Amino acid sequence: MALSQKPTYISVPSSSREGLFQPGLQASGQSPPEWWIVDVFFQKNPSIDWILDVDQQGRVYWLQAGESSKALAEVENVIEWLIQKDAKRNESIAVIGGGTVLDVGLFAASIYQRGVQKWSLPTTLLAAVDAGIGGKNGVNFKGFKNYIGTITQPDFVISDFRVFQTLSTLDVLNGWMEMTKHALIADPELWNTMKQFKTIPSPKAMHPLIEEAAAIKKRMVEADEFEFGLRKTLNFGHTVGHALESAAAVKNADLSHGVAVGLGMIFSLHWSATRTEHLDIQSELIDAAKSIEQWIKSGAPEQARTALQAADCATLWSCMKKDKKNDIRGVQEVSLTKIGHAVWNQPLSFSEFATCWTKAHEGV
Ligand SMILES: NC(=O)c1ccc[n+]([C@@H]2O[C@H](COP(=O)([O-])OP(=O)(O)OC[C@H]3O[C@@H](n4cnc5c(N)ncnc54)[C@H](O)[C@@H]3O)[C@@H](O)[C@H]2O)c1
Repeated sequence: MALSQKPTYISVPSSSREGLFQPGLQASGQSPPEWWIVDVFFQKNPSIDWILDVDQQGRVYWLQAGESSKALAEVENVIEWLIQKDAKRNESIAVIGGGTVLDVGLFAASIYQRGVQKWSLPTTLLAAVDAGIGGKNGVNFKGFKNYIGTITQPDFVISDFRVFQTLSTLDVLNGWMEMTKHALIADPELWNTMKQFKTIPSPKAMHPLIEEAAAIKKRMVEADEFEFGLRKTLNFGHTVGHALESAAAVKNADLSHGVAVGLGMIFSLHWSATRTEHLDIQSELIDAAKSIEQWIKSGAPEQARTALQAADCATLWSCMKKDKKNDIRGVQEVSLTKIGHAVWNQPLSFSEFATCWTKAHEGV
């Protein structure tokens, strides 16, 4: 099925000497967006220097990144600001930031006056390969992840990988985890390349891999925009990941999305291995879990340990039972039949979860 609205994707060459994202904005052939919702990081760190001039014109809403901003109250704040600015329906809104800022900003843009033209300018690796493309916009609600939102495609997506230069090691790891997910569910060749890295490479060294990972997401969204089937495979590792995030939030423990998904994928790989009798497949799935474990241990060992201590099996299970992907049959998981091939809507029982969960995280 064709997309309800096909975004225009523009990539800025990494050799460009112009300001971040600027060549992409020019290449769109459009006049610049009227309104900007921007991660407050770029107010203090002027790597996107021209946005400070736009701010001088009163056209920037600075938004704090992080899960606590992914709330209806923040969406209301953005909408109130747009009303105060007298933003019109035929004007456009651009959002610059990582996954949390894009989720909030693009959601606000998708409902303001029933939706205006929106531009996605991802600034984290995770957002460039995942959150910034695909049209899922929204916020958390009462402790449940991404419970309220819309699926409406951005009109323009501008990628500029030069922006990753200021990313922390943790945020490179977070993006690498979503790239890992894309490779594991759909691209054995990409996985073969990624697994060679014992430590995570710098963003500059992984540009072609970022493009491949983003292309996987784009293909899946084009094939199944509203997640009736194939797109569900992008939730690999997310049922457990979201439960870990919810449990960590209750305890005020820091847990970034990518690390949560990484821990979730370790579980899902172990569980997938129990579902095949082919020893070679079992061992490649367990090896993949070990690679993820190694990356997490080198990038966020404390965060991972705290997250695993923040919740027991029963607590996680109660969060998993509230996952959006479930249906009347109970918890529905994505599993791999082999590297590069994922199946969705696989029922998962509590006893299977408890057994594999303990085994999966013995080493973390
Ligand atoms: N909508 C979707 O399809 C989708 C897909 C995947 C993930 N997500 C969501 O994305 C969120 C995670 O996104 P995230 O990991 O980008 O988190 P984030 O938005 O919190 O950004 C992480 C940190 O990086 C900082 N930052 C942003 N750009 C930077 C840069 N260029 N240099 C230095 N620091 C920078 C931010 O200020 C923040 O401190 C989660 O809430 C997750 O649910 C959404």
